[in-house]
Amino acid sequence: MRKHIVAGNWKMNNDLAQTENLITDLRKQMKTSDSEVMIAPSFTNLWQAFQTLREDETIEVIAQNMHFAESGAYTGEVSASMLKSIGIQTVILGHSERRAYFNETDESLAKKVAAALANDMRVIFCFGEELQDRKAGKEENIVASQIKTALFHLDANAYKHIVLAYEPVWAIGTGETASPDQAQDMHAFIRKTLADKYGGDVANSVSILYGGSVKPNNAKEIFSKPDVDGGLIGGASLKAEDFYAIVNAF
Ligand code: PGA
Repeated sequence: MRKHIVAGNWKMNNDLAQTENLITDLRKQMKTSDSEVMIAPSFTNLWQAFQTLREDETIEVIAQNMHFAESGAYTGEVSASMLKSIGIQTVILGHSERRAYFNETDESLAKKVAAALANDMRVIFCFGEELQDRKAGKEENIVASQIKTALFHLDANAYKHIVLAYEPVWAIGTGETASPDQAQDMHAFIRKTLADKYGGDVANSVSILYGGSVKPNNAKEIFSKPDVDGGLIGGASLKAEDFYAIVNAF
């Protein structure tokens, strides 16, 4: 059985007080759920969020990014071992905003993925096509190339620690969602891409999340698709009620 995962990517939102308030609100909404629930606050608030939720087994605090080097002269960056040292076990890598604004490439992401796994972290690896790619009918080529370049250096065992997040760039923060059928078609293609390289057992064990304008009113239909194992939620993760409505959409 693949895990259902709903992860909230808070991006560059919420200072310390707002982080504490949102966590308090999340705890009020919390019900037992079979899904894994995660939140990704900004670096400055990770430690506080982790401490606050330490006793709480139901929400995992995760990071939005990390550097591939272990340490050194990389001003402004944070390493996997630093994240581990404050209890963080999971990191989002390759978000389209990191690719677009911070020049991340699948080549550099391959190094980040390797560094995270070398530190026994779990990776939520994000990828997805841009609007012009979809209009040109190239979305499968783009997605296959992103996965192959960033992940195909891994051995089959590594996929126990990999979660995939398909996020079509044209659907992120735009209110434009891939239709449930578009999401399902792409998720099935992603699973086939994995199966061709690693075999069906690996492909069927990896959770593939959908991200891009998932809201309480569309989550149920998207999550009902057989190859959609959860969501990476941006805007709607900043309101506890909306986030839990999405968590409870499974
Ligand atoms: P959105 O963001 O839900 O606001 O579209 C999703 C994401 O960027 O992970």
